[in-house]
Amino acid sequence: AAPGRGKPTMAGFEPIAPTPNHVDDVVVPEGYAWTPVISWGDPVEPGAPDFDVHNQSVEAQKRQAGYNADYLALRRGGAGNNAANKGLLIFNNEYTNPELMFPDYDEANGPTAEQAAIEMAAHGMTIVEVRRQGQFAPWTYDRHGARNRRIHAWTPFHVDGPAAGAEWMRTSADPSGRTVLGTLNNCAGGETPWGTSLSGEENFNQYFNTTGTADPDGRLARYGIQSSGRGWERADGRFMVSSEPNEVNRFGWIVEVDADDPTSTPVKHTALGRFKHEGATIRIATDGRAVAYMGDDERYDYVYKFVSKGTYRKGDKAHNKTLLSEGDLYVARFDGDGLGDGEWDGTGVWLPLVVDGTSHVPGWSVAEVLTWTRQAADLVGPTKMDRPEDVEPNPHTGHVYLALTNNTSRRPAEIDEANPRASNKHGHIIEWREAGNDAAALEFSWRIVLLAGQPNDPTTYFNGFDRRLVSPISCPDNVAFDSEPDHLWISTDGAPGTLGTCDGMFLMPTDGPDKGKVQQFLSVPAGAECCGPVVEWTDRSVLICVQHPGDGLPSSYPYLGDPVPRPGVAHIYRPNGRGTGS
Ligand code: FEO
Ligand code: CA
Ligand code: CA
Ligand code: CA
Repeated sequence: AAPGRGKPTMAGFEPIAPTPNHVDDVVVPEGYAWTPVISWGDPVEPGAPDFDVHNQSVEAQKRQAGYNADYLALRRGGAGNNAANKGLLIFNNEYTNPELMFPDYDEANGPTAEQAAIEMAAHGMTIVEVRRQGQFAPWTYDRHGARNRRIHAWTPFHVDGPAAGAEWMRTSADPSGRTVLGTLNNCAGGETPWGTSLSGEENFNQYFNTTGTADPDGRLARYGIQSSGRGWERADGRFMVSSEPNEVNRFGWIVEVDADDPTSTPVKHTALGRFKHEGATIRIATDGRAVAYMGDDERYDYVYKFVSKGTYRKGDKAHNKTLLSEGDLYVARFDGDGLGDGEWDGTGVWLPLVVDGTSHVPGWSVAEVLTWTRQAADLVGPTKMDRPEDVEPNPHTGHVYLALTNNTSRRPAEIDEANPRASNKHGHIIEWREAGNDAAALEFSWRIVLLAGQPNDPTTYFNGFDRRLVSPISCPDNVAFDSEPDHLWISTDGAPGTLGTCDGMFLMPTDGPDKGKVQQFLSVPAGAECCGPVVEWTDRSVLICVQHPGDGLPSSYPYLGDPVPRPGVAHIYRPNGRGTGS
């Protein structure tokens, strides 16, 4: 039934049917519309030319929107009247698909030096001012916004925390070990309560070429750093590990950007450890300390949390921007209580790695633990998870949700109650509650709330909801919340390969009569994954990133006549507002 007719669904939309994976469109529920807001190559900084796929240059790309958007934030408000209809859009540019970017790309030989440099300029982050004509109108971006900014692979970052300046952080270009050019492979992220943006440097390993480099301690191998096919050393010698061995240690961190000040120097926080950071999200503990939840997205890797030494002071941004510079780092162990109770659940503990400035890993200094965090964690016995992606606390309840996207390698002998499926190709979601609902607690209770897949697959689980009444879902990647306390939104990355359907975005209530009722809200174009959802449900407004459209299946997103697909940000809105169906 059309919205407003027949029986309204609990959230005011009729779920869409699964979209076959070759469909090249953004599919939204009846009554909704969508529009691209900004796409790869759109002008952002002063002097940027209009996008022209046949006239790309490094200097143009440094001023134009970056590629492959992932994390997305909308910071509402602005100067003057009508602040609710102004805002700042912040999104990560995780990586590049050169075979889709360059019409003359040579697959066999990789990028030319100039193409590699354009790719470097297309990485990082994009910040643009946006506005709309009213509560239910589409957002548009302002190419002349005063806070517009591109952060790319040459933008200087300040390094802080215990590993800053360590001998292994120094390079020929930066003998201090405290200034790094660029941020790479920024995946998910989070907005801090003090008005900055965090993001994770994830698969940074892929940019470095280790030809001719020994690895006696396995410090490169544990991070998957090996001879790269990217060819970036053609553009910048620092990506050749044999000639600049420490450059690789300067990536794999959580970065903090103050988007309100386009002249600010972003920071890499070594206190939060170095791994393939999916992202970081903040909750303030009972005593005011800032807690950051973080996943390390690799098969069999871990979930971490950081607890700041200092405490949050409302309204004191300068102070709060120091919170992630010093604190404690923990890694999670999930203990099952057995399947006799019919639930995948149990208790957990946060195992200390660094506490009060002291290493809890015998024989390792604090700076070593923070730089080779994976190996340090290996020594304290955390639970090996099925690729921990986004981990976010629900702002209404404090309960924490962790997307475990998949792990097809897990063998039957390796399953545990928190990772209960062998060959886990569809992934799952764990919810946990910190003891006393205090983010800084060192113990928690947990349960699986979703085992994804085709609902007729008996290994799936939808929080107890009738599996015949839910949408198929696979490979949860990002989670998000809105103004409703029990709304968990999930975006996916991998359904084309596992379900034969386009990736998309889903709503799953976590409490109430519809608890576990997964309903698909949208699907993204052929070849794309769906990232970064921002949901403002009172406005029936959803912003998403359409990442790598055309990867493996033809796409011409955003359908503006260009000969190549252009990843970017799309807005889904309900032109008539809430309507009568909600
Ligand atoms: Fe970039 Fe873990 O996804
Ligand atoms: Ca149990
Ligand atoms: Ca991700
Ligand atoms: Ca992803």
